[in-house]
Order: sequence, then C-alpha cells, then structure tokens
Amino acid sequence: MKTVVITGSTRGLGYEMAKVFLRNDWNVVINGVNENRLNHAVESLNELKSKSDILGVLGNIANPEDIQNLMSNAVSQFGAVDIWINNAGVNQPSKAIL
Ligand SMILES: NC(=O)c1ccc[n+]([C@@H]2O[C@H](COP(=O)([O-])OP(=O)(O)OC[C@H]3O[C@@H](n4cnc5c(N)ncnc54)[C@H](OP(=O)(O)O)[C@@H]3O)[C@@H](O)[C@H]2O)c1
Repeated sequence: MKTVVITGSTRGLGYEMAKVFLRNDWNVVINGVNENRLNHAVESLNELKSKSDILGVLGNIANPEDIQNLMSNAVSQFGAVDIWINNAGVNQPSKAIL
C-alpha cells in the first residue's frame, strides 16, 4: 500500500486531496498547525477509509524540525513515503513591475 504526506491538509485543497487518496486506498498523512482542526480532520477522514489508514501530525512547515518530525512519523507508521505534497504555503504578491 502506498503512502502520501500532504502538508497543510486539515482543510481546503490539502484536505480534498487527502479524501481522493483515501478513496483510492492510499495511506494518508495529514498535517496542520491547529490541533483542534487536525483532530477534527482525522476524525472525518477516518469515516472514508477502507483498506488504508490515516495519520495526523501536528507541525509548522516553516520549522525544519517539524518537517523532519512529519517525515519520521510517516515512515514510522507506514514504512515509507511514496509521495510528498508541499501544499501548505502562501501566495506572495509579485514584485515584478509590468
Ligand atoms: N485556494 C486557492 O484558490 C489557491 C490558489 C493558488 C494557490 N493556492 C495554494 O494552495 C495551498 C492550499 O490553499 P488552500 O486555499 O487550500 O488553503 P487553506 O484553506 O487556507 O488551508 C491551509 C491549510 O494549510 C495549513 N497550514 C497553514 N499554514 C501552515 C503551516 N505553516 N504549517 C503547516 N500547515 C499549515 C492549515 O492548517 P490549520 O488548519 O492548522 O491552520 C490548513 O490545513 C496554499 O499553498 C495556497 O497558497 C491556493
């Protein structure tokens, strides 16, 4: 069974991607900074899973230690990471002068 890690996946696009992977029997590791939202997302996603599993890991992807912890938890739980999706982030306004 394959495993995907999706950063910033307690809501929005990351959460929607998590649902797609779960429906296709991938193990899914979700992540976010707000503990309540993370727990709520894990609870909701648990209802969708059949053969695969879901793991929630709290962490701020701006912090390298949290990224390492996310990877370690994923590998420890599922053995390996097949896809890592860097979804969490911000849109920076363009500095280009048109
Ligand atoms: N939506 C769009 O139209 C659009 C368009 C272009 C690009 N994007 C990009 O696509 C990505 C997702 O967008 P979205 O609209 O789905 O965002 P969103 O609804 O605001 O969701 C953001 C997710 O990222 C998590 N998050 C925020 N900061 C984080 C951090 N420092 N470390 C770990 N997790 C963090 C949030 O967790 P918490 O719940 O814990 O806060 C939440 O799960 C972003 O990178 C955004 O810039 C979005």
